[in-house]
Amino acid sequence: MFLHGWSVDMKEAAIQFVLNGARISCTCDPDMTLLRYLRGTACLKGAKNGCGTGHCGACTVLMNGRPIRSCITKMSRVDGAEILTIEGLKGEDGGLHPIQKAFLDVGAIQCGFCTPGMVLAAKALLDQNPNPTEQEIVKALEHNYCRCTGYVKIIEAVALAAAWLRGEEPSQEEIRFLEHSTISLGEQEAQEPQKYRVLGQSIWDLDGPGKADGTLAYCGDMVRKDMVYGAFVWAPAPKGRVTGLDLSEAEAMPGVLRVITAEDVPGENRLGTFDREQPVFCDKEFNFLGDMLALVVAESEEQARAAAQAVKASWQAADGIYTIEDGIAKGSILMENGRQTGDVEAARTQAAVTVSGDYELERVEHGCLEPECALGCIEDGLLTVYATTQSPFEIRRMLGHIMAMDESTIKVVGTHLGGGFGSKCDAHIEAAAAVAAHVMNGPVMINLDRRESLLLSTKRHAYRTSYQVGFNADGTFSYLDASLCSDAGPYNNLSGGVLMQSCIFAGGPYHIPNISVKGKAVRTNNVLGGAFRGFGINQGAICIETLMDEAAEKLGLDPFEIRRRNALRIGSRTVGGELLKHSVGLVDTINLCEKLTREAVAEYAPLYPRGDKVLGVGVASGYKNVGVGKGVPDDGGCILTIREDGKLEMRVSGIDMGQGFRTAMLQICSEATGWRIEDIDVISGDTSRTLRHGQAVSERQTLNSGRAVVEAAARLKAECEANPWQPGERRQAEYYFVAPPTYKLEDEEARRTQGDEYRNYPAYAYTTQAAIVEVDKSNGKVKVLKVVAAHDVGRAINPHIIEGQIEGSCSMGIGYALQESFPSENGVPVNLYYGKLGLPKAGETPAYEIALVEDPEPLGPFGAKGISEVATVPMTPAVLNAIHDAVGVRMRRLPATPERVLAAMKRR
Ligand code: FES
Ligand code: FES
Repeated sequence: MFLHGWSVDMKEAAIQFVLNGARISCTCDPDMTLLRYLRGTACLKGAKNGCGTGHCGACTVLMNGRPIRSCITKMSRVDGAEILTIEGLKGEDGGLHPIQKAFLDVGAIQCGFCTPGMVLAAKALLDQNPNPTEQEIVKALEHNYCRCTGYVKIIEAVALAAAWLRGEEPSQEEIRFLEHSTISLGEQEAQEPQKYRVLGQSIWDLDGPGKADGTLAYCGDMVRKDMVYGAFVWAPAPKGRVTGLDLSEAEAMPGVLRVITAEDVPGENRLGTFDREQPVFCDKEFNFLGDMLALVVAESEEQARAAAQAVKASWQAADGIYTIEDGIAKGSILMENGRQTGDVEAARTQAAVTVSGDYELERVEHGCLEPECALGCIEDGLLTVYATTQSPFEIRRMLGHIMAMDESTIKVVGTHLGGGFGSKCDAHIEAAAAVAAHVMNGPVMINLDRRESLLLSTKRHAYRTSYQVGFNADGTFSYLDASLCSDAGPYNNLSGGVLMQSCIFAGGPYHIPNISVKGKAVRTNNVLGGAFRGFGINQGAICIETLMDEAAEKLGLDPFEIRRRNALRIGSRTVGGELLKHSVGLVDTINLCEKLTREAVAEYAPLYPRGDKVLGVGVASGYKNVGVGKGVPDDGGCILTIREDGKLEMRVSGIDMGQGFRTAMLQICSEATGWRIEDIDVISGDTSRTLRHGQAVSERQTLNSGRAVVEAAARLKAECEANPWQPGERRQAEYYFVAPPTYKLEDEEARRTQGDEYRNYPAYAYTTQAAIVEVDKSNGKVKVLKVVAAHDVGRAINPHIIEGQIEGSCSMGIGYALQESFPSENGVPVNLYYGKLGLPKAGETPAYEIALVEDPEPLGPFGAKGISEVATVPMTPAVLNAIHDAVGVRMRRLPATPERVLAAMKRR
């Protein structure tokens, strides 16, 4: 019997319920959310807080067998109910449940932040419907977002679990109904395929079991003795001057321990990766809504947030800049970049075909399911920051300036990330956490809510571009004349690097003899632009690839053929002037993509004989740097230790944000050392335990850190051969790898002095992708039916990881084309809810045909290159080209929403 009824004080009620099989009686605020109870009172951290507004599904638990979003479920509703969280889900043997095992088996877990919610949503479905169709699975997952996987493997995992629970052992083909992939050697590969022991196997994600059962701790799950909480006081408007801060009311509120302001910063009150421009706490002026004026520290997060509202700022509004056009008109230029080579003016007069277009490309949010979080504390005598970061060493360097401390007295640990995609490169809240821990001399947790995360985090830059491209009669490029302008927001952060990269890749993966590329980054008072999968390549790719399609049409050439005629090959030069010498698998990807696309179209075409729904096919190629390059050192290190117990400890430089870095390093280490996977412990992300490395960006880690692993393994093996290891001994070998020097685009001196050794990046990954779409002419709605993706990966270390990276990237590229945007008006974002970002959902998952080409990269471990970003690059223009193929309209303004497609069709 459960007891019902409220206490006299309506803020307290007796609630009884069953939690994971145990009877619970508690007295609590009936308005408290179940999520807060679970994560706080019950210390069950498996249910995640991705949005707190009922949009993302990360907090899903089962109530009486049905999935609910615990962040919007009040404890009053829980009275008398039976609750199952991920911690209560077990298999018959007490270990992982078959659903969790299925997620691991098919590679459906990347960052894992969505996984507990997804698994429980699947459980609710399979308990009711043991044999669901694909549509029924998709429907069951409709309230759960995953930003990493593109849903393909999640849908397949549910189908596999259903089969297992029915007592069946399905074949791979029965389960992989949404994807098919093959691996082949590139044309450049001369020798026989190598046989490897561990490489090439789709082993489970190293941290997957902890992600599946909810035990893996993300930053926001961490707890320290005497931990207190911080909440920010945000800028009151996008642009203004601070004239005073009245802290008195906030300081008198319950639980408040301290209000921290710029005066508490011991060193330089500035942060930033390249230029230290952004204030840690604003004391004079604020320049966007993500600027922070103060941090309230209190005994609970709720108390800190309440008191932050009570801090009274006196301020004066100032005129801001809110559009790229206004910024150019007012001369608010953060930086310029570009390159001119050949004779564009002469080529313009001689070109057989000229195509041109102006593009409006909207700002886009990363949509990591995990919001930003940082825990500052004092640990082992070191000022320590645990943070959701892709850049632990960069942050340590910045903290040295901010705290006026030697870097050796600071430790930064990048925790397991619930997605990154570039948004967790820049330091924002880590500095405040460090200052707070220093001031409080103890642990301070800062956890952003979704609204704060959307205001503060960087976005894919909005761009305005203007392109003109000329072709010769044989379909080869004659010239490129491009201008690209980005909206950087108020501070540089990585906008300069993004702009340079936009310029270097402005011509796509093609040889172009005459080039004029001009880039500008405009300083505005909108949200910050920053790194995002592709890092500035995507915007130019949209322009060059759609114009190339237009040119092919005018020239009477097939879209694959025009790309083949212009494709970069060994011996080609890039827009930057770099001579490509090896591992250029682009033509292989064009050929493979063409073959597979023609087969796929033959299957779809008969399904669209006539009517409102029409079929379209679009193709695009792309390439992407492996390594940051552009003059920034690309490095990675590895320390291998044979411990006394005979286990191998690998301390490897890098961060895993769900892309499978740690698993890939484990496989490389096992292959290189001969050690068994289960005998290797992997440590990463900790500045006090790993060798220095640059940010976890630019598809660089597999190449740099992977190469360091291989070289450290060789050293360790050589030492053990000379002097065999004995039980009880410790043996260690390390290697710090630095890729050959690279140069900035504008470095004419290097171009002249280095000759054919001049390069912008350590290496490149190449791809060609096709989209097969259905366009509904009655309403303009576009549905991507199938993606064909051919990629030159150098060497496939773990095929499931690679497929997952491609599918997740493609999902983002499709979202960018059709539905994602983060608009703002006068510096104020229009939407601050996760569910209104336009992110793809499970029901929008296309089928995939993936072909991997192995054209080994000499610098990479066993020839491997990176794969985590490049698939986004051609995906967006491939979809736009497919829309044109279907209904004859060129979409130059993104996203290509149904309304815009319909309007374009009417204008035709
Ligand atoms: S955290 Fe509950 S739906 Fe997002
Ligand atoms: S694995 Fe789904 S959000 Fe990362």
